[in-house]
Amino acid sequence: MTYQYSQRVPESDEDPVGNILKVAGSPSVISFAGGLPAPELFPIAALKKVTNEVFDQSGRQALQYSAAIGHPGLRQQIVKRMGREGVDTQIENVMITTGSQQSIDLVAKMFVNPGDTVIVEKPTYLCALDVFRSYGAHIVGVEMDENGMRMDALEKAVADNPNTKFIYTIPNFQNPTGRTMTADRREKMVEIADRADIMIMEDDPYGAIRFAGDDIEPIKFYDRNERVIYLSTFSKILAPGLRLGWIVAEKNFIKKCTLMKQSADVHSDNLTQHIVAKFMEEYDINEHINKIKKVYRQRERVMMTAIETFFPKGVNYSHPEGGLFIWVEVPGDIDTKELFDTCIKHDVAFVPGEPFYPDKVIPGTFRLNYSNMSEDQIKTGIKRLGTAIKETIGVQV
Ligand SMILES: Cc1ncc(COP(=O)(O)O)c(C=O)c1O
Repeated sequence: MTYQYSQRVPESDEDPVGNILKVAGSPSVISFAGGLPAPELFPIAALKKVTNEVFDQSGRQALQYSAAIGHPGLRQQIVKRMGREGVDTQIENVMITTGSQQSIDLVAKMFVNPGDTVIVEKPTYLCALDVFRSYGAHIVGVEMDENGMRMDALEKAVADNPNTKFIYTIPNFQNPTGRTMTADRREKMVEIADRADIMIMEDDPYGAIRFAGDDIEPIKFYDRNERVIYLSTFSKILAPGLRLGWIVAEKNFIKKCTLMKQSADVHSDNLTQHIVAKFMEEYDINEHINKIKKVYRQRERVMMTAIETFFPKGVNYSHPEGGLFIWVEVPGDIDTKELFDTCIKHDVAFVPGEPFYPDKVIPGTFRLNYSNMSEDQIKTGIKRLGTAIKETIGVQV
């Protein structure tokens, strides 16, 4: 029979990114494609210990249904964490979600009617684009440079789109570019949003993983009118399989969002929330994050040195001070999907730039991840990639 799906369901069954990750997942391929954290850094022994304690001390509570807003012990820990980042907040302003992906979905669901405009960085996180499309948003991409979203371009986008509901931004070590927005642009973004009376969705999964340069306060720090909805997650600082994230926002918004979440999944896994709360009570999560930073810093350095050695002249790339990604721009009109096919023949993979663009694609762009491969694999993989780029653009190998 023919299923009469809603407009939210994409017509095409194609999953180009899924296909890339499948090919990249072959054991012979050195993959810089996924955004996977280093699994050897997951604090397995500590999580095992606190899981046993949760079962021993509060098993009945942890296995019971609970409130959609989340476990108070965990929300309190997040209040503390946010304080460290310069955001003074209260427990009523914090809700727990099933990862930032759910947070993006809930916020979009709450603001976007079909045809409403959502402003994003160009390029941006592709799974956020999928969410915005599913609610029928008109997506407007704003140019970036090395310092994040350009504020002159943002002002123009806001002026040209009076039906804008919110700006979606990833200010720290952005996915896919690895770029970070400067403090003055953060302040300016709030000023622009205030003037136009629109919301800001600040998606910050990577901010805690800064391994170079100085900390910059979140956009939420500059928020005077409760228009910034701040999202973060345990995926990159603990483990993505836990599926836990959080939202910090105005308390009435949180109440409404809790109702929406209740309809979506009743609440996030209560046992996992107890486990993570216990972990944060008993261990210093910052110590754990420092271990992650040290390893990623080293891998990023190795990748950068290999890029400088093996890529042909004229190829540009971002210089992240944290997070998981480097963005590469090969000059000319090369199709990075073709380059991807050449790379697979050389047993190395990346994600082509195309799916990260909301509209017009800039050719020759792709994303590299450095968190998930060993230093030796990074050196070998980048050498192979350099050879494939040279073959594709016609430089003597
Ligand atoms: C920018 C961005 N937002 C949200 C997410 C989703 O994270 P989570 O695992 O918390 O759902 C990711 C995951 O990679 C991401 O890169």
